[in-house]
Amino acid sequence: MSLPSQVRIVEVGPRDGLQNEKAVSTEAKVALINALSKTGLRTIEAGSFVSPKWVPQMADSSEVLSQIERAQGVTYSALTPNLKGFDFALAAKADEVAIFGAASEAFSQKNINCSIAESIERFAPVVEAAKAQGIPVRGYVSCVLGCPYQGEVDIADVVRVSKLLHELGCYEISLGDTIGTGTPLKAQQMLSAVAEQIPMEQLALHFHNTYGQALANIMACLPLGVSVLDSAVAGLGGCPYAKGASGNVASEDVLYMLNGMGIETGVNLNAMIEAGHAICTALGQKPRSNVSLAALAAKTAV
Ligand code: HMG
Ligand code: MG
Repeated sequence: MSLPSQVRIVEVGPRDGLQNEKAVSTEAKVALINALSKTGLRTIEAGSFVSPKWVPQMADSSEVLSQIERAQGVTYSALTPNLKGFDFALAAKADEVAIFGAASEAFSQKNINCSIAESIERFAPVVEAAKAQGIPVRGYVSCVLGCPYQGEVDIADVVRVSKLLHELGCYEISLGDTIGTGTPLKAQQMLSAVAEQIPMEQLALHFHNTYGQALANIMACLPLGVSVLDSAVAGLGGCPYAKGASGNVASEDVLYMLNGMGIETGVNLNAMIEAGHAICTALGQKPRSNVSLAALAAKTAV
C-alpha cells in the first residue's frame, strides 16, 4: 500500500469547532489560536466573516484576527461567503479566504440562503477581489457523503460543484462530509471521482466524526494520494445548519494515527493536546479526542 510521506493538517477548530460550541470569549479564542500557532501547524482557520445573525459565535472574528500573535510560516484563513465578508477579511488581514458551497441544493439553501448556481455567482466576485489582492482562495464543498435535508447525495453533484469552484480559481477544494455519515468505501469512491477532474494535490478531506467513521474514511483515502486533511483540535464543533452534526475529526487523533504510520506532519502532538485541554477548560467540557483523553488518563493514572 502506498501512502503519502507527508500530510498538511488544516486546523479548523477555531472556526468550524467554535462556530458550533456555546459562545466563548474573544480572549479564549485568541489564546487557542496562539497555542495552535506553536504546534507546528502551517494553516489555521481562524474565523468566519458571515452574518452575525446566522452564526453569532463568529461575530468577533475581526477582533480575533487582529489580536492573535501571528507566527512566521503560518497561514491564518477565514470563511467569506460574499464580498461583504471578503472586505471584512481583508481589513482583518486574513492571509487566505475560503468560499463554501454544497453538493446538495437543500443544504445550500439552509446554509447560505441561495441555490448552488446563485452561490457560484456570489463567489465569483470574491475570487476576483481576492486575486486582485494576491490572497489565495480555498473552496469547500459540503455534503459530499450525505445531506441532513436531502439524504443521499449523487457523486456526480460532488464532482460538478468541486469543478465549478476549481474553475472559479480555488487553489484547493476541501471535500466536506458535513454530517459524518460517510463510510470508507464510499469516501474512496467519492474522492476517486473528484480526482478524475481535479489533481489530487489540490484536494483536501474535511470529515466530521458524527458516526465515528472519520479516521476509517481518512485511512481509506490516504492510499489514493490525498495529502491535505482538515481536523479540529479536541474534536470541537459541528455545523449550525446540520442538526446533530458533531465536530470534525480530532486533530490529536489524526496526528496520532499519522505518527504511528510514519507520515510526517510537522505538528507536535503533545502541544496539540495541551491546546485542546485549554480550550475545553474554557468551554467547560472534555475533549472529544480519544488520544487526548487517553493521554490525560495516563498522566493521572500514577
Ligand atoms: P442573506 O440573508 O441571504 O444575505 O444571507 P443578505 O446579503 O441578504 O444580507 C442579510 C443581512 O446579513 C444584512 O444585514 C447583511 O448586511 C448581512 P441586515 O441589513 O439584515 O442587518 N450580511 C453580512 N454580515 C456580515 N458578514 C457578511 C454578511 N453578508 C450579509 N459576510 C449569508 C447570506 C451567506 C450572509 C448567510 O446565509 C450566512 O451568513 N450564512 C452563514 C452560514 C455559515 O456560516 N455556516 C457555517 C459555515 S459552513 C460549514 O460549517 C461547512 C464547512 O465546515 C464544510 C463542511 O463541513 O461541510 C465549511
Ligand atoms: Mg465542517
